[in-house]
Amino acid sequence: MRASPLAHVPGMFTVNEETKVQSCLIIGVFISYLCFSSSFWFFRGDREAIKRIAYEFVEDRAKEGVIYVEARYSPHFLANTKVDPIPWNQKEGDLSPDEVVHLVNQGLREGERAFNIKARSILCCMRHMPNWSMDIVELCKKYQHEGVVAIDLAGDESLSSEANPDHRRAYEEAARCGVHRTVHAGEVGPPSVVKEAVEVLKAERVGHGYRTLEDQSLYRKLLAQNMHFEVCPISSKLTGACDPDFTKHPVITFRKDKANYSLNTDDPLIFNSSLHLDYSVASKYMGFTEQEFKRLNINAAESCFLPEKEKQELLISLYKAYGMLKSTPF
Ligand SMILES: *[C@@H]1O[C@H](CO)[C@@H](O)[C@H](O)[C@H]1NC(C)=O
Ligand SMILES: *[C@@H]1O[C@H](CO)[C@@H](O)[C@H](O)[C@H]1NC(C)=O
Ligand SMILES: *[C@@H]1O[C@H](CO)[C@@H](O)[C@H](O)[C@H]1NC(C)=O
Repeated sequence: MRASPLAHVPGMFTVNEETKVQSCLIIGVFISYLCFSSSFWFFRGDREAIKRIAYEFVEDRAKEGVIYVEARYSPHFLANTKVDPIPWNQKEGDLSPDEVVHLVNQGLREGERAFNIKARSILCCMRHMPNWSMDIVELCKKYQHEGVVAIDLAGDESLSSEANPDHRRAYEEAARCGVHRTVHAGEVGPPSVVKEAVEVLKAERVGHGYRTLEDQSLYRKLLAQNMHFEVCPISSKLTGACDPDFTKHPVITFRKDKANYSLNTDDPLIFNSSLHLDYSVASKYMGFTEQEFKRLNINAAESCFLPEKEKQELLISLYKAYGMLKSTPF
């Protein structure tokens, strides 16, 4: 998720080449954490559109065979009042970040009912807007029982959160109130950003995390503690975060090391991507097998931000779909 996505995607249309490889649907069941934040900045201030996009987001995931999804976005980017500064040079209007969250929750809930999958959301703090972060954690708390499961921090990784204590305060409050925590880190920023995410912000999952590999001692430590990495192959090519050659993608190392990670899609509307495409790329260029797809989906489910009981139900659905008994060791 990025503040000005269009500026980052010179390779945007190359995705279509990959469409051709959309060979196989390897397995019909996915768990995913997706970002749709910047996808809908076009619809800022428009209540019906915001709800609709959230609803259609669930529809599209259901069509892809997803059974559980966590969508993340920045409510402030879609608001035009009670947000300072008002984003996108808009005039002040009457849609607050709080109401944005309410609308997205409604859209997701209607989507869940219509398409019979589970959808939750994650609210993003933005690194360059530390003064939005306390607001975000308050929204996470307020809507904790209406589908908001976690807090995220996204944006320019050169802005450390040490220098912006508001992010740290927001994450401390999140931890105190049982709000789950993930942080975009090590996507383009150095391993120190990952270290800070885990040690200072107490992230339970790391968004992307590729550059962790440059600090072997940190990487070994995270492997040992089963830290979960949310990997987005196509996005990392389009944003230039990783070598454009998919056969050199860091997720291949994660796989070899049996790391805890999932495959996800970033900004499906902006990148015109889909989970199928990310899986096809992994299958075609990275040598992923059905066995590995199952393993990573189980890890994704185990690392999801649902309450324990619902997480167990989700795992059982997966085991059933994969024809595995729950007690079968993997
Ligand atoms: C929040 O931060 C932005 C960017 O630094 C600044 O323009 C704005 O005035 C700040 N708002 C408040 C209430 O401090
Ligand atoms: C988006 O991708 C789909 C197939 O995945 C393709 O049919 C469509 O033309 C693409 N749209 C754009 C705008 O590139
Ligand atoms: C991944 O992390 C989850 C909890 O976050 C844990 O339940 C699971 O066992 C981990 N998987 C691996 C392979 O370490």
